[in-house]
Amino acid sequence: MANGMYEIISKKRDGLELGREEIAFVIDGYVKGDIPDYQVAAWLMAIYIRGLNDRELADLTGIMLDSGDRIALDAVPGKKIDKHSTGGVGDKISFIVAPLVAACGVRVPMLSGRGLGHTGGTLDKLEAIPGMNVFLQPEQFRRVLAGTGMVICGQTDNIVPADKKIYALRDATATVSSIPLIASSIMSKKLALGSDGIVLDVKTGSGAFMREEADSIRLCRTMVAIGEKTGRPCLGIISNMDQPLGRAVGNSLEMIESFEALKGRGPADVMEVTYALGWCMLRAAGEDISYTAAETKFTEAIASGRALEVLRRFIAAQGGDPRACDDYSLLPASRHQEEFASPASGHVERIDSFEVGMAAIDTGAGRRRKEDAVAHGAGFIFHANVGDAVKKGQPLLTIHSDRPDALPAVRERLLAAIGIGARTVAKPKMILHLVDRNGVIPWPH
Ligand code: URA
Repeated sequence: MANGMYEIISKKRDGLELGREEIAFVIDGYVKGDIPDYQVAAWLMAIYIRGLNDRELADLTGIMLDSGDRIALDAVPGKKIDKHSTGGVGDKISFIVAPLVAACGVRVPMLSGRGLGHTGGTLDKLEAIPGMNVFLQPEQFRRVLAGTGMVICGQTDNIVPADKKIYALRDATATVSSIPLIASSIMSKKLALGSDGIVLDVKTGSGAFMREEADSIRLCRTMVAIGEKTGRPCLGIISNMDQPLGRAVGNSLEMIESFEALKGRGPADVMEVTYALGWCMLRAAGEDISYTAAETKFTEAIASGRALEVLRRFIAAQGGDPRACDDYSLLPASRHQEEFASPASGHVERIDSFEVGMAAIDTGAGRRRKEDAVAHGAGFIFHANVGDAVKKGQPLLTIHSDRPDALPAVRERLLAAIGIGARTVAKPKMILHLVDRNGVIPWPH
């Protein structure tokens, strides 16, 4: 007789290998509602502690993928390359790299999410643009991609429904930060989209889900191996999330920073991550191009205005007002703004991005509970970054919020998040490693 749920949980608890049919039994039974939350929660915890081998992980990913629909993209001409970030604070790279790569002839389809924990959400940021529709039917998804070169929308209920249910359970049972569970969750969704290749931005540091570099590398290698096994080129970078990315944190504020980046005024760290991912995307599309040649293409696409024009057309195609790319007064703004002054003179040696992300939620920029509304105008603009010399009383950042009663807690978190020291501090390296089918190498550029 086949094993039931009790035996499958005990097997994994004892560190034994599960067969494909046992994994399918759990996933299919859970999606159908035949297996209760408490048994799946115990199974997830057993995986969290014992892990999965490569075969089990490939089976889990494939079975999750088969739990729902896929979006076929064969009818859209050209190479289609998806980019995925594991999430961070101030991560607005999608809005810059997608039009940039599209302006260079590669189409960029992306299924994105809302803010999760302390991290911001791509869909929340896009919704700062008046009229923007982030939920498209597959046919509309293909039309926007074919017509503009890029598309970003939310995952519908029938794309990997197993992940929707399991993710919510992991969130409530302290089983999120497990490499096989994250890898199967992300890659099942990536594979549901019929792209020709996948580029991964795996974050590491205080604002990442994987704080330790070695864990981020293992996660990236695991996901690259899953992608490559399906025959699609898959490569990734390990990038620094030890301080917020760029100067803006919050929905409208990050959209403005993205528009500015496409006008040639992006902060250096944002552009470094953008160009690194853009180069990986051209490579995944089969272009044998050097990093320097890719950078030249990207700077030209920005200087000529072509990349910003792609973004304007994508916004219009999804119902948004493209005038927001130039007239920032069309974006929601907070009525209250105040400076946060440096408590000491010295050098900024630390900006803990987890704490900054939590403080941003307190300003109204993110959600504490799933049903909370987001204040699109809220967040921070940083005036100093790690490595900068500052004077006591000098503004380190500007707080934007319509919640005056929350500001004492925001200030307290920021004070704990930002470290000022006497010694000089080097600017942090933004890209740490390149991961592809051949393995991991230190970032060569
Ligand atoms: N993002 C996902 O989609 N899944 C995870 O498990 C973690 C981050």
